[in-house]
Amino acid sequence: MFENAPNGFFIHDLLVFNGLSQGGYVSKGFILQPPDLTNVQISELNSFQDQICLLLASLGDNQRLQVQFFCDSDYRKELLRFQQETEAMANSWTKRSRNERFTRYWRLMEERQLRRQRLILYISRKVEGSPKGIRSEKELTKYYDTALAQLQAEFAQIHEVLTRIFSGQGARVIPMTDADHYLHCVKFLNPSLAERFDYDPLDAFASELAETPGIRFVHFSDLHHKGDREHTRSVVKTINSFSPEFVCFTGDVIEEARFLPEALEILSGIKAPLYGVPGNHDYWSRAPFADYTRFFTATGGAWLMDEQRSIVAGKINLIGLAHLGGKHPLPAPKPRVKNLALFHYPAWAKSLGNRKFDLMLAGHSHGGQVRIPFYGPLMLPFGVDEYDLGLFRTQSGPLYVTSGIGWYPFPVRFNCRPEIVVFEI
Ligand SMILES: [Fe+2]
Repeated sequence: MFENAPNGFFIHDLLVFNGLSQGGYVSKGFILQPPDLTNVQISELNSFQDQICLLLASLGDNQRLQVQFFCDSDYRKELLRFQQETEAMANSWTKRSRNERFTRYWRLMEERQLRRQRLILYISRKVEGSPKGIRSEKELTKYYDTALAQLQAEFAQIHEVLTRIFSGQGARVIPMTDADHYLHCVKFLNPSLAERFDYDPLDAFASELAETPGIRFVHFSDLHHKGDREHTRSVVKTINSFSPEFVCFTGDVIEEARFLPEALEILSGIKAPLYGVPGNHDYWSRAPFADYTRFFTATGGAWLMDEQRSIVAGKINLIGLAHLGGKHPLPAPKPRVKNLALFHYPAWAKSLGNRKFDLMLAGHSHGGQVRIPFYGPLMLPFGVDEYDLGLFRTQSGPLYVTSGIGWYPFPVRFNCRPEIVVFEI
């Protein structure tokens, strides 16, 4: 037991108390959404009890389990998502009835007539070992990085065990992030927050102070595969060498439909989910987009035609734009996650209204292919404007325009090398 409350840190989605050496503790919360067992047969209840026994038996000698059970009325996240979806709808009658439902439920929530039970399992363990005999700061950083990576792996394994124990009857086990831990601590220490729906404690959470490991991903564009298998293979090899969590592609796989099967076959060597949007040449080639969709989906990613995906455990909202001012409303950025947008034409960054993104990626310009020193590109295609190459500040957020991989219409590059871009956010 500690005589005084130990200092704690939110780090790598873990809670570390009293430092990462002997005398410290590490903990992680898991939200347990149990199955609905009302009116079920006794055998089902027995089976859930068995799962609880298994949970207790799965704990190691050095582990402790703390159970937090409470009720709240906090349906803000779900209701705001419902409202956001309503805004995107075209039919005015649907909108009106959904808005009425939103207002009714929001009022019920404020009156605390909606109730939801929450169950959180915290699993903690003592920290063993100390950084003895380490003198330099660099070595110490390395020691802590390794210790944290090991702890993360250990808790990922605990999550797997919990999922295996509870999945039989449809229960869900959701590992908590730094933001979840922060929110639970604040609400636990300030019970009156349950009465307030006009204030979100997460607004005070400085995520940059909670050290989360960076998310590494790769951006490449404008492959223009014309049959040079070796070159495209080398692109795949370079992408894999960065071990990205996912890969973004911003258009122009090919110019002629006959090269699509070969291009996709080589790109299938990328060992990460691949997300992409079409470029002008993908349209002009008249290659069936169904083939693109099938291929990108098979990588674990998606071909995004004005669609969005929540990726990397919900930390990134990835939006792929294929049309501007088309029939479909453009997907909107989401609060409290990194919003990443992919589109082919850099100039689209000027036409996204008041949407704000943490990062936008585009291609199409090829950097001009020929760049005269102290002057810039000799020629640029349409849809680029001043965003020819590199990072730009725009009204909708930072935009990175890559020089791409291939060439069009001439096989020339001068002072403008092809590139594969690695981001860590
Ligand atoms: Fe291109």
